[in-house]
Amino acid sequence: MIKKKIFLTALVASIAFHLSADEGMWMLQLLKQQKYPEMRALGLKLTDYDIYNPDGSSIKDAVVQFGNGCTGEVISSQGLVLTNHHCGYGSIQNHSSLKNNYLEEGFWAMSREQELPNPGLTVTFIERIDDVTDFVKQCLERDSAKDSLGVFYLSPSYLKGVARERVGEVVLKNLQGIDFEIKPFYNGNRYYMFTKKIYPDVRLVGAPPSSIGKFGADTDNWMWPRHTGDFSVFRIYADKDGNPAPYSPSNVPLKPKRWLTISSRGIQENDFAMIIGFPGTTYQYFTSWEVQERRDIDNAVRINIRNIRQKAMLEEMLKDPAVKIQYSSKYAGSTNGYKSAIGANWAIDKHNFVDVKLRKQLQLQQWARNNNRGEYVSAIDAIRSAVDQRANLRFRERMLSEAILMGIEFSKVRYTHADSLLQALSTKDKAAIEKYTDALQSDYRLFANKDYNPQVDQKVSTALLSEYVRLVPRNEQPSIFDELYSRFDGDVGALVQAIFSTSIFGSEQNLQRFLASKRKDKLLKSDLMFRFAQSVNSEYDRLQMQLNALKRPYDEARKKYVEGILEMDGELNHFPDANLTLRLTYGKVKGYRPRDAVFYGYQTTMDGIMEKEDSTNWEFVVPEKLKYLYQNSDFGIYAMPNGKMPVAFIADTHTTGGNSGSPVMNGNGELVGINFDRNWEGVGGDIQYLPDFQRSIIVDIRYVLFVIEHYAGAKHLIEEMDIDKIPEI
Ligand code: ARG
Ligand code: GLU
Repeated sequence: MIKKKIFLTALVASIAFHLSADEGMWMLQLLKQQKYPEMRALGLKLTDYDIYNPDGSSIKDAVVQFGNGCTGEVISSQGLVLTNHHCGYGSIQNHSSLKNNYLEEGFWAMSREQELPNPGLTVTFIERIDDVTDFVKQCLERDSAKDSLGVFYLSPSYLKGVARERVGEVVLKNLQGIDFEIKPFYNGNRYYMFTKKIYPDVRLVGAPPSSIGKFGADTDNWMWPRHTGDFSVFRIYADKDGNPAPYSPSNVPLKPKRWLTISSRGIQENDFAMIIGFPGTTYQYFTSWEVQERRDIDNAVRINIRNIRQKAMLEEMLKDPAVKIQYSSKYAGSTNGYKSAIGANWAIDKHNFVDVKLRKQLQLQQWARNNNRGEYVSAIDAIRSAVDQRANLRFRERMLSEAILMGIEFSKVRYTHADSLLQALSTKDKAAIEKYTDALQSDYRLFANKDYNPQVDQKVSTALLSEYVRLVPRNEQPSIFDELYSRFDGDVGALVQAIFSTSIFGSEQNLQRFLASKRKDKLLKSDLMFRFAQSVNSEYDRLQMQLNALKRPYDEARKKYVEGILEMDGELNHFPDANLTLRLTYGKVKGYRPRDAVFYGYQTTMDGIMEKEDSTNWEFVVPEKLKYLYQNSDFGIYAMPNGKMPVAFIADTHTTGGNSGSPVMNGNGELVGINFDRNWEGVGGDIQYLPDFQRSIIVDIRYVLFVIEHYAGAKHLIEEMDIDKIPEI
């Protein structure tokens, strides 16, 4: 015991805990104080105002949030936007059919009229960023009596009210497409307000075929060396005054405040690189216990369950091209998180993240003792005990979410209208009966939409439920599982079969049979699918409620813990965890050594595409035209000086999910690439950045331009862009 203590003390003393050179997702409004000198030293030629200017236009104004989870950049005076192929994927899939299979063949609008609208897709500009910490804290104090649970300080809905209060209702009423959002930073120690301009008319302009935009698919996903042309092109439309407006044929291309200039001159090793975008979530301030929880519960459950789900899905997809279109997006989303969970667990073990975080908490503990800050010591203890106490609940919640709520599509059917219809039938209320019968039918269409296939759902759910009942003890399963044992003898396949053959939403025929039936009340009451959905969803609510009881002290303790770290190290030395807000990361173009005696270069070329080509494997098919261009070295001005055609490169910038589509800029602020992935060795970077291992994977802008111009023949788009013009500073 004593020995251990001495050892740990020595450990703490010996390790100075500094952020490594290129680590960090920095807030633009603090850049000048925090990082600007270092960026200049690395090769940045711009002033801080060129990047972020609160009173005028700057590079930041060309960076947008694309949809809810990606980034994009404006690259022409006509509102043209670049993002990743995988960010435009849902839209491309939506417009695809067996006849017009844009996923397979690509899509290029050769005129404005051909650009395709995407209801639901938005592009968001950040107009202003304000520090509102004092204001929010005053409001919290004023409202503390109403906040009996003590949760307001992190509550999005509470903070929304505060934002409205701050801005004033009059202003709100007069603004079209403007939204105000206050977000907590450093776990609720700081608050910033974002003024956003949200454009809802965003049209698809172009996308390469998946054999370019998704080349290497899941095998290459999260891997370097990479050869994916992961980009797609959209255009923002506005009303004639340039304001956000819902889709209308009379809308016109947006004339943006700012767009990026593009460099076709390429990059060299050690060149300065910076990325601005909207990183989603990181866990830099985890304690050792949270790292273990993530590895042993969250990631372990995800890896196990998704593996089962994907196998079942892929079998069906490979059998039928129509199913492949239907399930491409769902499948890609699933495997993406699956593979990153494996990579994260690998990094946690390989680089001892548990110890790394332990050292930090011990350092704070010691500092707190020396400085009379007992509250930080208590915070560390409180985190530990919350994590301990929630272990079983968390496992059940993760199992329920991964294996049932996310994995089984019919667990998401809407059952509220079925309940209302039953009610109406019992009171014989004719109008209500009619209303809810209609509602039920539209619920069915929403559920069994064009991307739903009952055979796939049946197969996947049988596989998932088998694993669920194997791992979750019987007395901890939702109540509907009683019937699995009483009526179906524990046979999951028989239960699923019964759900599909008898339930109203089991098939179109079932629905019609129900509509014609005289015993609707009986059918509704006994409907297995509705009862299943109801049971698993209320189990989820129950688990959430129990978890919430532990969440409050946990959130409090985390806030304190981070406060302690900031106090000990100085706030300017830290960046807040990613939270889907605008950030900048900088570093260098740089190769790396993944393991002993292996070195990965920083740049890939089309030679590598041909090395990977495999016409018998859907992931590595190379389109004929691309091969033809390659064989004839038809690369135009985009070739490198050695005649090779660049495809992708890497930089030691610090990025995460949400940074997809982010512009990668050189020291002049010119666009040189689009971020789209991270390397396998860097996937653990959401918990701990490793300068020698972590790399952002970036599609070279020269490859993007080459595909647009030479592969797609969409020269009119190239002509819209500012290529190789010195940026106006
Ligand atoms: N790994 C990248 C990201 O996290 C790309 C994902 C898209 N590609 C795929 N094969 N699922 O989003
Ligand atoms: N592909 C990720 C995204 O969609 C970026 C890769 C990463 O997590 O770093 O945002």
